Amino acid sequence: MAMTEQEHPLNNDVFKRFRALVYRECGINLTDHKRAMFSSRLQKRLSHLGLTSFQDYYDLVVGGHSDAELTTMLDYISTNQTEFFREPHHFTFLRERVLPELAVDKTVRIWSTACSSGEEPYSIAMTLSDAIASPSTWNCRILASDISTRMLAKAATGQYSYEKINSLSSDLVRRHFLLGKGNHRELVKIKPHIANMAVFRRINLMDDRYPIKSLLDVIFCRNVMIYFDRETQAKVLARLSRYLKPGGYLFIGHSETMQGISDAFHYVAPTIYRKQE
Ligand SMILES: C[S@@+](CC[C@H](N)C(=O)[O-])C[C@H]1O[C@@H](n2cnc3c(N)ncnc32)[C@H](O)[C@@H]1O
Repeated sequence: MAMTEQEHPLNNDVFKRFRALVYRECGINLTDHKRAMFSSRLQKRLSHLGLTSFQDYYDLVVGGHSDAELTTMLDYISTNQTEFFREPHHFTFLRERVLPELAVDKTVRIWSTACSSGEEPYSIAMTLSDAIASPSTWNCRILASDISTRMLAKAATGQYSYEKINSLSSDLVRRHFLLGKGNHRELVKIKPHIANMAVFRRINLMDDRYPIKSLLDVIFCRNVMIYFDRETQAKVLARLSRYLKPGGYLFIGHSETMQGISDAFHYVAPTIYRKQE
């Protein structure tokens, strides 16, 4: 039988409880029109756990001894869509404007704050690798984080389906990807010189502080704030600015805005901001 909402109906009261929980834990604003998505994505999970109602599932999520089921639930409902070199002007800006400014110290620290399955941090690594004449003389560190442990595990494998690299130039593919052979010919893998530049960690942007010691030159916070309401966006941006060097850059997604939300940054170019010096 196909999984339908009818199998485990989700009534309004219980949905409201989940909505408050999800908002509190990860800032995602589950508006009413997301109810059907929420219900349909979790049907399978309830069946897998042998539960008969969403109320039982709620009790399990909040009453467990660990955050494990909460983490699993967030994995089910988060939107993880991403691609290599998404919003390419950020990578051009990184190469042409940011890296030359850092060439004296030869140190660059970048944080991809909602890295999903890893395409964003690996695109950053490829940009650095191609732009820096002698990468071994530079100190490059890319921190890649996400709330989703499932996405982080996928990102850390560095393995993707061939179609993910269809739009990349053959030169770039040759330099930075290993192509699968035989039974694996539908797969590609990031080469070690790129994979080794990224470190993956679970960080929830809702946390009061982030486990980051050195200030960053660039923060990518792209296509995650759209899921937050304005109040949460303001809090997250205020926190992010504390981890950025004065004059450091913040890149946001094309449908996100800073207008009226944060004055810690000034506008540089569309979706590119700089922390006040
Ligand atoms: C649409 S993807 C964006 C991926 C990439 N930044 C891009 O622009 O292509 C959104 C990501 O945000 C993550 N996310 C959602 N809420 C989060 C939170 N509170 N803290 C950290 N990551 C979060 C999701 O797990 C998901 O992987």
